[in-house]
Amino acid sequence: MPVFFQHQINDTTRLGIWKIEETEDFFKANVPQHRDVTHPHKRLQHLAGRFLLQFLFPDFPYELIQIADTRKPYLPDERYHFSISHCGDYAAAIVSSDKRVGVDIENVSPKIETIKNKFLSEKELTTYLPTAIGTAVTGSGPGLSTIDSRLTTLLWSAKESVFKWYGNGGVDFKQNIQLQKHHKATESIDCFFSKTNSQLAIHYRYFGQLVLAWVD
Ligand SMILES: CC(C)(COP(=O)(O)OP(=O)(O)OC[C@H]1O[C@@H](n2cnc3c(N)ncnc32)[C@H](O)[C@@H]1OP(=O)(O)O)[C@@H](O)C(=O)NCCC(=O)NCCS
Repeated sequence: MPVFFQHQINDTTRLGIWKIEETEDFFKANVPQHRDVTHPHKRLQHLAGRFLLQFLFPDFPYELIQIADTRKPYLPDERYHFSISHCGDYAAAIVSSDKRVGVDIENVSPKIETIKNKFLSEKELTTYLPTAIGTAVTGSGPGLSTIDSRLTTLLWSAKESVFKWYGNGGVDFKQNIQLQKHHKATESIDCFFSKTNSQLAIHYRYFGQLVLAWVD
């Protein structure tokens, strides 16, 4: 039972990461597939995400899941709010019986550096990545570019978790999701989401090269 990470946020909200080591048949015996997924590994990720929902809340009614036009899955009676993300051999899910939630999981990758201007505002770039000049530090520690990739991936994942928390699409990552103070000690980032005038706390964890971000 490869639960990689489990977190009981409070009485009503649970979060988990599943490391996918099972076959497709294992998941298919347990969960329905809700959309056609051609690529075998993506299909496995999809099934593992669904499986995790019931792992977190055993009475989660898979069979009632609907897919919105935005492609967000949801339960019409809102018995649970939930969000799913996958990356490589990992699936993450957050489920809450009483509030909107969003989760995202990403692998740290230098590729994210090439699109940072598309999702970070000038203010965010200056605040978070003042060293983003790609220069390697001499000596034995990680180079600045490595540190920047970890942070840039976190900022991307943080914004994706807000996008999923919102769930209605039509979000301008630069304008609408405004990252504010970074609390490294508590692994959270304050955020203002202008589409709903909401002040949010984005939580995160690093697991080696994996980044998990969520809003609850
Ligand atoms: C929808 C989106 C969030 C999916 O992210 P992804 O990294 O491709 O994939 P993930 O594995 O993290 O998430 C996929 C899951 O998200 C969920 N999802 C899909 N659309 C969603 C939506 N509109 N809202 C909330 N959740 C959604 C689904 O559960 C899906 O998995 P499933 O179909 O197996 O159930 C992403 O494709 C997207 O559109 N992001 C916004 C991009 C954007 O606007 N960028 C602008 C700034 S550059």
